[in-house]
Amino acid sequence: MENQLSFSTDLRGKIALVTGGTKGIGKAIADQLAQAGAQVIVTARNRPADSDSTHSFIAVDLTQADQVTQLAQQVQDTYGRIDILIDNVGGLTTPGGGFQALSDQDWEQELQFNLLATIRLDRALLPLMQNQKSGVVIHISTGAAKQPLWNLNLAYSVSKAALNCYSKALANEVASQGIRVVAVSPGAVKTPLMEQFLEDFARNEGIPLEDAFTTVMGKMSGVPLGRMAEPEEIASLVRFLASPAASYITGVNYSIDGGAYPIA
Ligand SMILES: NC(=O)c1ccc[n+]([C@@H]2O[C@H](COP(=O)([O-])OP(=O)(O)OC[C@H]3O[C@@H](n4cnc5c(N)ncnc54)[C@H](OP(=O)(O)O)[C@@H]3O)[C@@H](O)[C@H]2O)c1
Repeated sequence: MENQLSFSTDLRGKIALVTGGTKGIGKAIADQLAQAGAQVIVTARNRPADSDSTHSFIAVDLTQADQVTQLAQQVQDTYGRIDILIDNVGGLTTPGGGFQALSDQDWEQELQFNLLATIRLDRALLPLMQNQKSGVVIHISTGAAKQPLWNLNLAYSVSKAALNCYSKALANEVASQGIRVVAVSPGAVKTPLMEQFLEDFARNEGIPLEDAFTTVMGKMSGVPLGRMAEPEEIASLVRFLASPAASYITGVNYSIDGGAYPIA
């Protein structure tokens, strides 16, 4: 082999950018990449409350194209490279109720947030990786893309399914340039986004909040591990996938859902 194999999960010397890295899954990923030695940049619309953080922060609304261009320029000017890009921003922003409940505007909003924001950022930052001839891109998707719930998350699931397709195609396109692209599909994870979703669901269904999780999961086939994931459990997989130890992994989509997806 031309290159020596490395099974290291050490990320010292790497520059990592985590979108939505101030809360939930993104924050846990940023913290774990930093623990592994990476220099971490987090982005969000609002500066994080946690002032102890060692991460650099750049304010950006990823649904705004001009702000994405500015972000890429700032990364290039300040760091001159990017080794790990975690496209984490996304989430459910539209109402349930099935296909008739969703307007064109709902569909456009969900596609902007869960698909186009990521595509735009990749287009802006991948040239740095292409120049370096190395890099890792990780797309945070969702199990709902494979198990859509028509009355709860239709447009969200469809936009993330499109993200999965894009992720696979991008992986094939840039593999020969030394860049790996991987998707990670969590099930239910205990984050501010999920807490809000469960509160809304309980209110709409007229059920106690403590029953909301099992009711939602019951609409699929339940969660064999019987609980939601902690954000750190998702981050632990991402940290491995971003490291040299995952050097032969590209073009795949990892489910991390406590066994919720019903087939192997
Ligand atoms: N939680 C789950 O159960 C679950 C399950 C499957 C998949 N996922 C996926 O995991 C990812 C993260 O979800 P999460 O639950 O951790 O979300 P979260 O708790 O709501 O955190 C979202 C992060 O993104 C930032 N953000 C939101 N809108 C933004 C925008 N327009 N531009 C830039 N930053 C923005 C937020 O900060 P600001 O508000 O300050 O901008 C925050 O840092 C999403 O892609 C979601 O679809 C989550």
